[in-house]
Amino acid sequence: MIKVDINGERLLDRMRVFAEIGATPAGGVNRQALSDGDRAARRLLCDLALARGFGVFQDRMANLFVRREGRNPSRPPVLIGSHLDSQPTGGQFDGALGTLSAFEVLESIDDLAIETDGPIEVVAWTNEEGSRFAPGVMGSMAFTGTADPAAWQSLTGADGASFADELAATLAALPEATMRPFGTPVAAYLELHIEQGPSLEKENIPIGVVTGVQGTRWLLVTLSGQAGHAGTTSLAYRRDPMVAAAAALHQLQEAIMPADAQARLTVGRMMTYPGSINAIPDSVVFSIDIRHPDPDRLDGIEAEVRRVCEEQAASQQCSCAVVRTFDMPSATFSPVVVETIETAARSLSLASKRMVSGAFHDALFLARVAPSAMIFVPCREGLSHNEAEYVAPEHILSGARVMLETTIALARRPA
Ligand code: GLV
Ligand code: MN
Ligand code: MN
Repeated sequence: MIKVDINGERLLDRMRVFAEIGATPAGGVNRQALSDGDRAARRLLCDLALARGFGVFQDRMANLFVRREGRNPSRPPVLIGSHLDSQPTGGQFDGALGTLSAFEVLESIDDLAIETDGPIEVVAWTNEEGSRFAPGVMGSMAFTGTADPAAWQSLTGADGASFADELAATLAALPEATMRPFGTPVAAYLELHIEQGPSLEKENIPIGVVTGVQGTRWLLVTLSGQAGHAGTTSLAYRRDPMVAAAAALHQLQEAIMPADAQARLTVGRMMTYPGSINAIPDSVVFSIDIRHPDPDRLDGIEAEVRRVCEEQAASQQCSCAVVRTFDMPSATFSPVVVETIETAARSLSLASKRMVSGAFHDALFLARVAPSAMIFVPCREGLSHNEAEYVAPEHILSGARVMLETTIALARRPA
């Protein structure tokens, strides 16, 4: 009997090659969405696919699909993949691991000449990260009809780039890819990813079986006061929005996470205007990323953020505006796909545990249109969104093997 396995050396080598695209001096990658680096990574994936005789497709959001045909081409494909874009100082594994493992699974199935009834497709979703062009997970939201990409056309990136221009350049860079519409039916969706947290490593468990994703909201807070001279404006005359911002953030950091172990609150971006050393700012603008598995708690945290920011603004005679820029409700994955992953891990004698993802992923939206779930592998010290992100080769290979077994099992499920 033929041994069904991945080609581990090939996968580890691919991980190294893709990590050179957008490599940073500190060992990470800067391959932000729709940048030259992102285009170079897509180019390479497309070339590898064409060299194997696989079909290559993209849609209007530049989601990239690589297809291996099944006996019955009219059946919806089992879709496997992740993303190739990164954070500005991202790691080598966030996204790339899932995309390249999915491609390895497709190649291994082809090497073994395994016939599947339905097709199998690898996908690289566009702009999962959302750090250059917000929000994240744009590609999967457009694909699943959750958002209309027309709303993003006038967006400007954190680096001043035009979203519409960068998207057009990315689409034009792969003329070999046949265009297809959004929302083509999917039989099942599977995504391998690093955990991005410490629990698998701490418990020495090689496989996380992800049963769902917690909710995320992004808020943009603008506190406005009055610009003034730093040297001449005495306390009584100041309407300083930075004082309000500092007090509000201190109060929120003291109140939200210490009181609820599941809550997350992060301020990753802050701008002052006019941004002069010797001027009291006219306004301070900052992002707040809040997360919780329970939608009611997420509502509660958002209400608290609004109340605290308004109160602190008022105390400095400033005004406050809070806009919700992104709302990603929590998701529950398919029990069937979850059990298929567990069976695959067991068949490979790999310990696994069920878990909920703290990070958001494209799988969250795919779960709305197809049975979906995710496989997690441990990363060193839980580090991610950090150039030092690291996944040991043995964990990469275990994750890809579980993915291969699960994909074959899903592709054999009756339509
Ligand atoms: C994804 O990158 C997230 O921020 O959860
Ligand atoms: Mn990711
Ligand atoms: Mn990420």
